[in-house]
Amino acid sequence: MTKPIDLKQAINAISDVVQNRPRPLREFDQIYMKTGDMVMQSEFVASWADAKRLAFIGDGDAISICVAYLQNRGIIDYGPSRITVFDFDERIVQAVKRFADKERLEHLDATLYNCLDAFPSVPKFDCFYTNPPWGASNNGESVNVFTQRGMEAIGYDGHGLVVIADDEELDWPKQVLASAQSFALDRGFYVSRMAPRLHLYHLDDAPELRSCNLAISALPGNGRAIASDPITDPQRLANFYGRSKAPRARYIRERKTLNYGMAHDDEYHLELMDKT
Ligand SMILES: C[S@@+](CC[C@H](N)C(=O)[O-])C[C@H]1O[C@@H](n2cnc3c(N)ncnc32)[C@H](O)[C@@H]1O
Repeated sequence: MTKPIDLKQAINAISDVVQNRPRPLREFDQIYMKTGDMVMQSEFVASWADAKRLAFIGDGDAISICVAYLQNRGIIDYGPSRITVFDFDERIVQAVKRFADKERLEHLDATLYNCLDAFPSVPKFDCFYTNPPWGASNNGESVNVFTQRGMEAIGYDGHGLVVIADDEELDWPKQVLASAQSFALDRGFYVSRMAPRLHLYHLDDAPELRSCNLAISALPGNGRAIASDPITDPQRLANFYGRSKAPRARYIRERKTLNYGMAHDDEYHLELMDKT
């Protein structure tokens, strides 16, 4: 039987991770998950990917760091054997590396990678996680691009967790869910689990919009030769980050600063006390 989790320790650990996250860029659909949901999600991912090599295709939320940190602190005694984050934002890549270095999380690493480029030839992972742009304006095409890279990371053999919008009232999340499931089926995967409407986000214009965990698994014998190519199809790229927001940046580059996690100088100025 697994031991019960000390909730206070777990929340304080996730708080360390949240403090380390770079500020989100809405232009590229970086919209961070709320802290309580990060605690629950990290515990779930650690158990789902226990003893496995796990690739994250994008991870502004920093679930990768949470999973590795909870495990390393002994707050949970299960989790992946290896975690690699692939993200096109150098601030996110460096935040993962800095945290891993500081806390000696030796099984956590990150690589700068744009999922429109061919997936790098690296040793195969066992499972992948992605919380992609949710594809409200392209019927889930951006979800499918991230999922395709995840499938390539595992050589079309293993498991994936796709975190996407799920809402009872709206039409588009249902259409995107159907498109994601059909994309998975066409590539030899089936839906092995679906946990509806779980997570909330710091999303000003839709604070109640939740995401679900859509777990997919490869059918037996599904592994195939990987033919990873860049994605250039304009149909897949139009509205990638929302209506009329096609990708324009290959990478987001980090400006070096000495005070990570602290207020930036240009956020405030001092009004000094009178000397008299
Ligand atoms: C698009 S956001 C989706 C919302 C998610 N809750 C988040 O903020 O992380 C997911 C991650 O994908 C990354 N990303 C966006 N476009 C990408 C691309 N073309 N290639 C690789 N990563 C990308 C973002 O930097 C972010 O870390």
